[in-house]
Amino acid sequence: MKHLVAPSILAANFGQLESEIEMINSSEADWLHVDVMDGLFVPNISFGQNIVKTIAKHCNKIVDVHLMIEKPERYIQSFRDSGADIITVHEEATNHLHRVIYQIKETGAKAGVALNPHTSIKNIENVLEDLDLICLMSVNPGFGGQKFIYQTLLKIKKLKSQLIERNCSAMIEIDGGVGLQNAEKILEAGADVLVAGSSVFKAEDPLLAIQRLKAMPS
Ligand code: DX5
Ligand code: ZN
Repeated sequence: MKHLVAPSILAANFGQLESEIEMINSSEADWLHVDVMDGLFVPNISFGQNIVKTIAKHCNKIVDVHLMIEKPERYIQSFRDSGADIITVHEEATNHLHRVIYQIKETGAKAGVALNPHTSIKNIENVLEDLDLICLMSVNPGFGGQKFIYQTLLKIKKLKSQLIERNCSAMIEIDGGVGLQNAEKILEAGADVLVAGSSVFKAEDPLLAIQRLKAMPS
């Protein structure tokens, strides 16, 4: 399958949110990645359900919500009601990952789990079959514009071979520091979805940046 590109709205100009979303709508992007941060799980606060609702209302792409919040089980239904098509929670943020995955699925959304750079893929080996998406963080979550951690490439390869071995259909999404300079290596390692914040929204020509990411061999 051809890889997917998911620009991250965190890097957009929020003073012109509507036109930023229109740009995404007219682009080759497949998903729009939406980062929700609570100032507790990560040392930064982004936005909550109201903004997600506004984004989802204007966006004609799949809305991929990445919850960087403690105990995400408290808010699954409300983010689904706000328009999330995919809801990703952090393995490190809940004591009951299996339950949360099914809570997400019961809302009708696709279920994803994200892993911080230090977290082993062993931590999700008992739920691999239950997942639609696995988000490997290639930076420590909390901020856009950070440097890609290159050890992630090995993690992608390991996860990819496990998914193939167990015949699992979960997609591998890579989040943090992704751009034209490393996209090819990330795809070669086995990634299916590229999240790109700064490399799209801070580019001189965001539409072209998306087009180039999409045109990478996969
Ligand atoms: C980081 C977020 C990312 C972020 C990526 O905590 O999860 O989605 O927006 O931004 P860039 O692509 O600039 O690293
Ligand atoms: Zn993210």
